[in-house]
Amino acid sequence: HIHGGFTAQTQFYGDSTPAELMQAYGSPLYVYNEDILRRRCRELTGLVDHERFEVNYSAKANSNPQLLSIVKEEGLRVDAMSPGEIHIELTAGFKPQDILYICNNVSAQEMRFATERGVRVSVDSLSQLELFGQTNPGGEVAIRFNPGSGAGHHAKVVTAGKKTKFGVSPDDIPTVKAILARHRLRLAGVNQHIGSLFMTGETYLEAAQTLMTIATSFDEIDFIDFGGGFGVPYKKLSGQPRLDLKELGKGLTRTIERFEAETGWTPRYHVEPGRYICAECGVLLGTVHAVKDVAGNAYAGTDLGFNVLSRPVLYDSHHDIEAYRGGDTPFGESTPVTVVGNICETGDIIAKDRMLPELIENDILAVLDAGAYGYVMSSNYNCRLRPAEVLIQSDGQPRLIRRADTLEDLLAPYGLAS
Ligand code: LLP
Repeated sequence: HIHGGFTAQTQFYGDSTPAELMQAYGSPLYVYNEDILRRRCRELTGLVDHERFEVNYSAKANSNPQLLSIVKEEGLRVDAMSPGEIHIELTAGFKPQDILYICNNVSAQEMRFATERGVRVSVDSLSQLELFGQTNPGGEVAIRFNPGSGAGHHAKVVTAGKKTKFGVSPDDIPTVKAILARHRLRLAGVNQHIGSLFMTGETYLEAAQTLMTIATSFDEIDFIDFGGGFGVPYKKLSGQPRLDLKELGKGLTRTIERFEAETGWTPRYHVEPGRYICAECGVLLGTVHAVKDVAGNAYAGTDLGFNVLSRPVLYDSHHDIEAYRGGDTPFGESTPVTVVGNICETGDIIAKDRMLPELIENDILAVLDAGAYGYVMSSNYNCRLRPAEVLIQSDGQPRLIRRADTLEDLLAPYGLAS
């Protein structure tokens, strides 16, 4: 079994076994591997060999400040989707100029939160451009365009094309120019994001080309940001191939070189991946508490409800699952079982009819590739406590990087003590 380039059982958990980690930090538990995180960062910073190529980590995928500081150490910049993300990124050590706030339907107050801290703002509608101009006359702004074609693993995460709320249409460029002029705004950059999770690069490269053409409608700008969406193979245990980064890198390099030859411009070029950086460095561990048969269907009842990992329920997403019975070697597949959580909804299913060993109580399940859009989308639904997060450091030792919620945490916002 290969996980994130490592043999899961021998290296992912460092010097510990999954059982030891859960004994120390509780179940369920998010576990991240530092080496895999660093490796993914380096693959992307090396994607395009160009002195003005930079990677913005899309921190919405996982904004644990300890992971953010590793990403920063690896030389990446970040994007932000909210004042909260800006706040946590500044706390993790990012400089304001290394953050891009990608606004979507925000208030003037939120825009000011960014500009007052020296964080660059990107707006994605004429209406928000107008608001930015009123709030920051004479300021600098970036604009998110909709290149007209999108890509993604589910309609809910395709963010360009005709069926999405995001981005300014290139048809509106004359109006954009009028608003910029009226408020004496300088266009600092253009950005886009076609959607989340592509496994081949064609649509991304086409959209990159389109964005460059859009950029040339304006005077020379500081940066062109092609967006994120780089996919990871969620079915790697059954042999799903990886995204061919070399090929994509070559394509981007060619596109950039052609652009520079034609325009003579020297902007910075950004990509903005979230998932690719952090999905594979994370595993969600949980415990089987009950096994049952309902009308001939086998169920394994676990503590892995959709309050802990919501992707399977929200998008029908597949996550590979490994089972452990003590030790650190996953045991084989033999029979279909539906893995469910402990939330009071029938839809609380993490994997349907999955081939797994015959499970018994206290078996441990490892849900793979859970580092992106896992913990950050967890909730306290059913007044469940969100789990702890642990980092397996490069020296093999585990380190707690977020404690689990406590019952006190549930009451505190109400001004009540336990
Ligand atoms: N840039 C922008 C403007 C975005 O909206 C996103 C993701 C990204 C970059 C990073 O996309 P990535 O490289 O991670 O694909 N919760 C969903 C994914 C939502 C993505 C939202 N936007 C999931 O679990 O699949």
